[in-house]
Amino acid sequence: MAERKPVGELTEAEARAELDVLAEGIARANRAYHTADAPEISDADYDALKQRNAAIEARFPSLKRPDSPSDQVGGALAEGFAKVRHEVRMLSLENAFDQQEAEDFVTRIRNFLNLSEDAPLSFTAEPKIDGLSLSLRYEGGRLVQAATRGDGEEGENVTENARTIADIPQSLIGAPDILEVRGEVYMSHADFAALNDRQQVAGERLFANPRNAAAGSLRQLDPTITAARPLRFFAYAWGAHSEPLGDTQMQVIQRFATLGFKTNPLTVLCNGLDGMLAQYRRIEEQRATLGYDIDGVVYKVNDLGLQRRLGYRSSTPRWALAHKFPAQLAWTRLEAIDIQVGRTGALSPVARLMPVTVGGVVVSNATLHNEDYIAGRDSRGQPIRDGKDIRVGDWVQVYRAGDVIPKVADVDLSKRPDDAVPYVFPERCPECGSEAIREEGDSVRRCTGGLICPAQQVERLKHFVSRAAFDIEGLGAKQVEALWRDGWIREPADIFTLQARYGSGLQQLKNREGWGEKSAANLFAAIEERRRIPLNRLIFALGIRHVGETTAQLLASQYHSWAEFEAAMTQARIGEGQDWEQLLSIDGVGVVLATSVVATFDNEAERRAIDTLVAQLEVQDVVARAPSGSPVAGKTVVFTGTLERMTRAEAKAQAEALGAKVAGSVSAKTDYVVAGPGAGSKAKDAERLGVAILDEDAWLALIGAA
Ligand code: IVH
Repeated sequence: MAERKPVGELTEAEARAELDVLAEGIARANRAYHTADAPEISDADYDALKQRNAAIEARFPSLKRPDSPSDQVGGALAEGFAKVRHEVRMLSLENAFDQQEAEDFVTRIRNFLNLSEDAPLSFTAEPKIDGLSLSLRYEGGRLVQAATRGDGEEGENVTENARTIADIPQSLIGAPDILEVRGEVYMSHADFAALNDRQQVAGERLFANPRNAAAGSLRQLDPTITAARPLRFFAYAWGAHSEPLGDTQMQVIQRFATLGFKTNPLTVLCNGLDGMLAQYRRIEEQRATLGYDIDGVVYKVNDLGLQRRLGYRSSTPRWALAHKFPAQLAWTRLEAIDIQVGRTGALSPVARLMPVTVGGVVVSNATLHNEDYIAGRDSRGQPIRDGKDIRVGDWVQVYRAGDVIPKVADVDLSKRPDDAVPYVFPERCPECGSEAIREEGDSVRRCTGGLICPAQQVERLKHFVSRAAFDIEGLGAKQVEALWRDGWIREPADIFTLQARYGSGLQQLKNREGWGEKSAANLFAAIEERRRIPLNRLIFALGIRHVGETTAQLLASQYHSWAEFEAAMTQARIGEGQDWEQLLSIDGVGVVLATSVVATFDNEAERRAIDTLVAQLEVQDVVARAPSGSPVAGKTVVFTGTLERMTRAEAKAQAEALGAKVAGSVSAKTDYVVAGPGAGSKAKDAERLGVAILDEDAWLALIGAA
């Protein structure tokens, strides 16, 4: 880190410049830590950067950048989220799975308290929300901390994320000085479906169910992502509090509502077991139409004095019980077994069912997991369902648990048709006819067709255009699917010939649904821009199994250029030779990964697709350390204004790969200022200091990338 003036002595201009540099430095450290998994600076240095940034902002509040690192959950970034020790432990609940167990619960409490059978004893009954619990701490009426449950003793500090949830008040009027309100963060069915639609369009991963979506959204390191996800919150419990909150459970819940929290409208007071069970049935009846997932009913002793007397077991209160709903089951006929093929060629068996209502939802498809599951054995060959296999024509039991994907659970052999035959799992891909093989230790059978397989084609194209890959603006999963369906693109290379084949007058593309003249022109421009692609992005985009973003970066840094990478992968033989050894010598590359890459290059169809693609591209080298030949090695560069050929982030990465240092502000030490349209004070600073100013094209020419 550079020599530093005390914050008190900085001029405004110096402060602004340093905030720019700090923002870049902190962002870079975050990226190195998270994306590349390769920290560049120590935790202490990182903290020092953040502190310096906060100190300068405190002195010059008006200079705080809109993307200030202080507003990011960055302090915690070094270990994900910071840990929070709960002042009052966060407990879980004892479960009951039938009426008898609910009855036993009431009896136990009466016995514990030595209450006679006719002494009044009331309980609250409310839905058990299927989300994740959160503890909100208010001090002086202001939200100061939000923490997940964690292990009950220690959770994660998700304060910045919780602040983005509309149901969570930022401040309370008339609350005790210290108050911890606890409840459940969840996502509604409608919001969940819309989120998954957006994820799909963006080529992002889909969430299995609303609970996973809620958890994934709350536990985001970037609070702006949480803010874009519609999370909700019901308050139902509490932790530390500096004043009594009421005499009964019901009173406290009402108090929460008065303070501005959402409380569940199905919370009622019941006098004894009959009332509890009646409410259980009422809630169960409404389950399918509530619009959010619940998985049972929670009973709590209403009198807080009694709650105190009853106290706790190791991790559950004696005064509460979760009466779970049975898994939702139904029997129906299995009409067919279809095989779906995913991006990596995984063959997934799907049950096509005679439609049946399961817990209020009509189900006509369910997963059958894999071929072992159908055959009645687990991955170790042990029998499941007593070894009963599943056949087309069978009566099968379908169930939905918290998950949205229904499963086939059981089969009724007494109803098996005489002509039912054991299901033979295909050994060829149903989409392309290629051999489908099962590797040792893998429960999944995979199509070996790779890029010639239509199902894999579509899925891979979606991956190819995804954000960390080619990231072509205007070409998301939806567009790719449509273009593929019409035969306009079959493989990645086709994207780069799209204009030549269809675009002359833009006529055809323009006439397609969803495209206007401008968006078509924009698309072609975006595609052109992406002909120049950094090696690491290209490697990631190929969609080779096991090769994620980080691995792609590792490979790119090792081999520098496409030519070198391609030559090495072509020559490498699995398990032997110098090229194989070199591949394995990369820290982070193991045998499974290396095998996958080498096998891909050895596969004729894959190879042809890769070669056709690369012929369309200009692959930019990735240089790990400053190459001696680089014209900008060791030079300090400042980018300012709008860049037109690539994003600022990419320009920076490219410059850094060539050994240049990218700075946020211009000083006498700056070698080049690359100024695009709209460049302001930095270009002026450069003029004043006599620093060379280049436009984008001149810069690209300088680094040999024009
Ligand atoms: S009360 C001291 N009430 O269920 C008791 N929990 O299985 C604190 N949950 O960790 C919990 N709905 O995340 C309570 N109405 C409700 C609930 C509820 C959902 C969750 C909560 C808890 C888990 C225990």
